[in-house]
Formats: sequence, structure tokens, C-alpha cells
Amino acid sequence: MTVTAFYQSLCEQLSGLLSDERDWLANTANASALLFLELPDINWAGFYFLHDDELRLGPFQGKPACTRIPVGAGVCGTAVKTSQSQLVEDVHQFPGHIACDAVSASEVVVPLYNGDRCIGVLDIDSPQVARFTEQDLAGIEAFAQTLLKHSDLPAG
Ligand code: SME
Repeated sequence: MTVTAFYQSLCEQLSGLLSDERDWLANTANASALLFLELPDINWAGFYFLHDDELRLGPFQGKPACTRIPVGAGVCGTAVKTSQSQLVEDVHQFPGHIACDAVSASEVVVPLYNGDRCIGVLDIDSPQVARFTEQDLAGIEAFAQTLLKHSDLPAG
């Protein structure tokens, strides 16, 4: 199966999973569980929600993680500050990376929006250097869009 077909199928699974539910907390919880179950070679998948100028831990799968990240700090805070997805091949080369799980080696973070307001991020970590390609990023962004489309969103 190609990477594109893999994420297409993952988005379809997510659509099915969320078809009868629009609750943001319930849907982010199930989305993190689906990612953790289906994505090979990852050690953490989950959400941080934006409150004022800090991110706070939301639903996730993986080891316990840091609970608060200021906007601009780490990979997650950088995604919010720059309004851009972050594809980090080697987290040890990323200035200010916040290590929640020592085995994490690469990471992808996608900012989430309600209209033009950022409401949080989707964060996925892998123990493999360069686990995520641009194709993975595109697939994970499509996954995030599917989640947003199926949910009633916080105002941000
Ligand atoms: N590594 C992230 C912190 C969150 S954990 O990976 C779950 C960062 O640098 O923002």
C-alpha cells in the first residue's frame, strides 16, 4: 500500500469512527487512539489545546507527557507561533525541543484551526530518526482536517 493510500484509508476510518459524534473531546480522544493503533513506529500521538498563550495537554496515547507548553516553545509551540506544520527529522537538532519521552527521535506537529483562530496542535512522535516524510505530513494534515470537519470546535 502506498503512503497516500494508507492515509486515505486512515481518514476513511476516522470519518466512520466520528460519524455519530461531534464532541471535540470525545473525537480527539478517539483520533489519538486510532493514530496510535494504526501508525507504525510511533511512541506518542495526541493533542495539546491552546488556552491564551499556552498549550495544555489534551487526549493522547503514549507515555505521560508535559502538561503545559508556552507558545513559541518546543516543536508544538513553534507550530502555533509560526502557524506552520513542523516536520522534524531529528528532534535533537531542533533548538528548544521539549523531551517528554526520551526515546522520541523525530516528530510531526500540525496546528489546528477554527476559522483563523488556532485551537491547538496534533503532535506525533517516533523513536526513529526521519520517520515522517512530506507524504506523511500531507496525510496527517488530511487526518487533522477530517477531525476538524467532523467536530464542534472550541472558540479558541
Ligand atoms: N516534543 C514536544 C513536546 C510534546 S511531547 O513530544 C508529547 C515539543 O517539543 O513541543
